[in-house]
Parts: sequence; C-alpha cells; structure tokens
Amino acid sequence: MKKVINFLPFFLRSKENNQTNVYAQFLDRHPAYAETESIDELRDKDFSRLDKQEHTYLDVTGGQLFGDSQLKKHQEFLSSTVLGNPHSINPSSALAEKHIGSTRKKVLEFFNAGEDYICVFSANASAALKTVGECYPFDENGHLLMTVDNHNSVNGIREFAREKNCPFQYSPIHQNLRIDEAALQANLESVKGRNKLLAFPAQSNVSGVKHNLDMIKEAQSFGWDVLLDAAAFVPSDRLDLQKYQPEFVAVSFYKIFGYPTGLGALLIKKSAYSKLKKPSFAGGTITIVSVQGDGHYLEKEAARFEEGTVNYLEIPAIKTGLEYIEQIGIDKIKTRVACLTEYLLTELQALKHDNGQPLIEIYGPQTGAKRGGTLVMNFFDRDGKLCDFSTIEKAAYQKNISIRTGCFCNPGIDETNHNLQKDKLKAYFKRSGEKDYFDLIDFIGQKRGAVRVSVGYINNFKDIRSFISFCTVHLNKAAT
Ligand SMILES: Cc1ncc(COP(=O)(O)O)c(C=O)c1O
Repeated sequence: MKKVINFLPFFLRSKENNQTNVYAQFLDRHPAYAETESIDELRDKDFSRLDKQEHTYLDVTGGQLFGDSQLKKHQEFLSSTVLGNPHSINPSSALAEKHIGSTRKKVLEFFNAGEDYICVFSANASAALKTVGECYPFDENGHLLMTVDNHNSVNGIREFAREKNCPFQYSPIHQNLRIDEAALQANLESVKGRNKLLAFPAQSNVSGVKHNLDMIKEAQSFGWDVLLDAAAFVPSDRLDLQKYQPEFVAVSFYKIFGYPTGLGALLIKKSAYSKLKKPSFAGGTITIVSVQGDGHYLEKEAARFEEGTVNYLEIPAIKTGLEYIEQIGIDKIKTRVACLTEYLLTELQALKHDNGQPLIEIYGPQTGAKRGGTLVMNFFDRDGKLCDFSTIEKAAYQKNISIRTGCFCNPGIDETNHNLQKDKLKAYFKRSGEKDYFDLIDFIGQKRGAVRVSVGYINNFKDIRSFISFCTVHLNKAAT
C-alpha cells in the first residue's frame, strides 16, 4: 500500500480513504498503469487548467489537448524568428522553407517512413483524404472498396468515384463492429481490373476498434492500393510504415498533440505517387504555367499537392508537438489509454438499475482487446427504454464533462448499432428538398445516435471516476 500512496496523484492524496482504496484496486487490476506515472506529473504541470476548472475532458478523439510547455516552446520559437512566405530565396522565406523541410522530415521519422514516403501537408485529415479522392485514377474499370466503418471524409470519396463511373461498394462489419474479414477477403479477391482502392480506418473514430492492419498487405497482394485513415489511431498507437505500407495515409495533427489545429498530412508511398493525377493547379503547385501558351507543368514531390501558401507559421509547431509526444513515449501513451479504457469499460458494464436492467449498452468490443480509447454507448432507463443522447450530453455539460453525442460523422456504425434498414434509408434519400438529421429520424420512425467517450494520455484516473459517478446519477438507485 505504501507504494500506492506514494504514487497517488495529488488529487487523490488529498482525498478520502475510500478513494485511495478505489485507486489501489484499479492499480491491482491494471498494474501497468504505474509505468505511466510520469504522465500524471505532466498532467499536473502542463494540463493544470483541467483541474483548476474542474473540467473532465473525455473528447480526445474529437481533439487532443496541447500541453502548456509545448505551446510555450512554439510561441518562443515564433517570437525569436522572422518567418516569411516560402517559395522565395529571401532570408525570411528561406528560413520558413528550412523549417517546413525539417518538419516534413520529422513527420516521416515519427512514422518510421524511411525513404519510402513523402509528406504532403494539408488542412486536416479530411483534406488529405479528399486529395486522394480527387486525384486517384478512378474509371469504369477500377473500383473503390470502403468498409462500413469509415468516417464521412472517407465515405465522401465515393462521389469522386461515382462521377467517373467507377464502381464502389462497402465491405460489411460484424455486429461487434469489427470488419468482417472473410467478406473483405472475398471482395478483394473477386474484383478484377486495375486502379482498385481499398479505404479503411486503422482505428474506428466511433467504436475504438483497431482494425487488422495485416489487411493492407492482403489487399496489395490482390493488386489493390490502400488508403489508410489513421486519424483516430495515431494519437495513442504507433504507426510503423516499415511494417505496414499503405499507399496513402491520412492524419490530423491536432488529434495527436492538440496544437496546431488546421494542419494534417497525406503520406504518399513514393511508388504510388505517379498514380495520383492532379486535375487542376494553383499557386505553389506548378513549376511553370502560361496564360497565352495555355499550358502548365506540375511541381514534383509534396508541392504538387500543397495549394497556395502553406501554414508556414504553424507547420514548425508540428515538430514541437511530435517531439513532445516522443518525450512522453507513444508506447507509454498506449499503455495508459489501454488501462483507463479497460477499467472504464468494466465499470460501465457493471452499472445496473435496481431491477438488474443495465444502465448502459456499450456497442462494439466488450473487452479491452484490439481496441483504443473510444467507447460508444447508449443509456437506458430501468424499463430498458433508450434515453435520448441529448439528455445525457446536457447533463454532462452541467457537470463540466466534455463528451460527444450523435453519429460522429460515421453513419455506417450507427446504422449497424440501431439495425437501420437499407430499404428505408434508400427510400429516404430518394426524397427531394432540404433534409436533416431530425427529419430522417421522423421518417424512419426510430431513434438513432449514441454517446461517445474518448480517453487519451492527458486523462487520469480521476477523470474516469468522474464520468463513472456522473453515470450513477442516472441509476434508479442511490448513487454509489
Ligand atoms: C478516423 C477519422 N478520420 C477522419 C477524420 C476527419 O478529421 P478532420 O476533421 O481533422 O479532417 C476524423 C475526425 O474525427 C477521424 O476520427
């Protein structure tokens, strides 16, 4: 017990014995959490704003928070340098180019990309995904295969395929929200032709499921290119591009280290670079263009896809952010997130009304295996009636708890969780006029949506307990 007390974070050291016991039990169940003690110290130092404001932040998949020292380092960098618009040889421009170049290198190193990839900066993961959609050579002989679990920024690529008469289809997921690998394999094998693109997320932004990255090689062995949406995976897991080599990878940096927002990257495997055909040009993307000559030549490497002036003041903050994460250690982050998530999962599953009816249904994996820190759930009353998610979000707001509700830009998961019928959905989308979420609910005559709680390295045991006690308030029995 001595060890436990020494290790107790400040907030628990000062509290009741009862809480000490709860924490000791947690450590007994998840001893690996003790290896992440340095993150508790970091939380006290760099994220004190959370405790000062008594804010429980559990929307890490929405956006990570930045550390105070991380931001300070970037601010000091900005106030000690003169950076100008790149693409010139003047001193301020050259300096900006230098920092952009070294940040590109850092990103590639972070993902262990070796010499195999180039890093294209984008506004966010969505913009990176859109670049692939816009530039991939879809045609009637090609194919776009998406998994039902996908963010809308991947789903939207189907419209590029549709426009070029390229067939597209979805590969199913099981009710446990994992990809049906047998069906995927069959789809990969059966589709012939060239320019076939498989797009799937390394980790679901809704269920937290970590999909099997071996599917990348599998797809490639049948002649597919792979677009890996790694936006929800890389904040708490290691993406090793020597081990897995998708042709295209999309990420958003604020999801990894909180600051800056408005920057992401598309990593393109060099061997697939020439497949992407840029349909237009803009400032910065051409080597030469003529008005009278009616011609243009595109830039090489990353510049071809970076339209206009890149965010040269914030791109160097990516390097600072990646170094910040490296200092903490991505493996330590993974361990911490796994311990907190597993604990939360088990505790939520145990919450029952006085008649034994579960308070919460968690969709997707029921254990900590092969999953990240995102839990999607709904609340039910003692008669098993679904509670409206907006009631839960409003109640959480009152307690200064940041969680997220709705469908999380991933309709495939929600349609699976609520068993929505294809025919009904198809009929809805044949209707004309302006439509929205509430109108759809009216039409299908059933509730949908859920509550999402997401855990990251910035969270501690107190945050998890705070959400659990928030949940107990909704029980038909005295709060525990
Ligand atoms: C898996 C996944 N893909 C894509 C995105 C889109 O990211 P952004 O909004 O930063 O473009 C998100 C955002 O939550 C995500 O979780």
